[in-house]
Amino acid sequence: MVGPDEHVICALSGGVDSTVAATLVHKAIGDRLHCVFVDNGLLRYKERERVMSTFESDLHLPVTCVDASEQFLSKLKGIKDPEQKRKIIGREFIAVFDDFAHELEQIIGKRPEYLVQGTLYPDVIESCPPPGSGRTHSHTIKSHHNVGGLPKDMKLKLIEPLKLLFKDEVRKLGSILNVPDSFLKRHPFPGPGLAVRVLGDVTEGNALEVLRQVDEIFVQAIKDAGLYDIIWQAFAVFLPVQTVGVQGDQRTHSNAVALRAITSEDGMTADWYYFQHEFLVDVVNKICNNVRGINRVCQDITSKPPATVEWE
Ligand code: XMP
Repeated sequence: MVGPDEHVICALSGGVDSTVAATLVHKAIGDRLHCVFVDNGLLRYKERERVMSTFESDLHLPVTCVDASEQFLSKLKGIKDPEQKRKIIGREFIAVFDDFAHELEQIIGKRPEYLVQGTLYPDVIESCPPPGSGRTHSHTIKSHHNVGGLPKDMKLKLIEPLKLLFKDEVRKLGSILNVPDSFLKRHPFPGPGLAVRVLGDVTEGNALEVLRQVDEIFVQAIKDAGLYDIIWQAFAVFLPVQTVGVQGDQRTHSNAVALRAITSEDGMTADWYYFQHEFLVDVVNKICNNVRGINRVCQDITSKPPATVEWE
């Protein structure tokens, strides 16, 4: 329970969960809530600019933007193991929040003791199954950056008001709280961001930049085709393999990407989405003609299970 003169930090990602959690806590404690948006260098194309401007125009909550991209990327250099990446990202997020708490203390004269997170029930089940869920710790599927990926010695105490809810329930709650559709209808985006969509070392070459461009073309095409709201999540994955191609009469030896689009109720299970032939032809042409360094596009047609939604 947050005392009457205590302050709270909330990390906003621009997605539905953290936005609804922040709105709820803001109703309870007003301006003792301090929101922060962290650019971890793993965001999508123009994400930081877009999200910050939507916060300002649609949410009317003051949000501080922290650029910690160098900090995250330097820690991820050379790291290939998916669980290790997730743990590093969880730790760096907490380090950034601690610094933010320290800076706030200089301004408001009191150190915030609490951190609000938009953790959902599926995050908990897949990271560290609770008693009674039918799974044990040996069944951990992924350490979600905001659950199993958190450092054991973190000082901030967690407030997780959505911890027992599924995504559709959070969307309903958001709607009751008048959270704008620009947040409620966004596809989920994982906290570790593009780190789990660049397979292997995220800092190698210009994988992140290439992935941003491919992802933007794919998602924009989905929006243009009027499919965004019926698809649960759509994104591109950078594959660290090079294949031979022929572009403009030249032999190329470039990277491949995979496109993944799924429908789902809650992210716990998912079906791959069946695109029309013409849609795929157009997207693949746009990607290969506009993104340097990509000469092959694959489509992921695996459901969950047996695959997970993200590739790492
Ligand atoms: P998976 O890959 O576990 O994804 O089948 C299920 C849903 O969770 C999202 N996801 C995450 N969200 N932190 C998050 O906030 C994470 O570490 C994380 N890992 C996966 C994923 O995008 C999908 O919607």
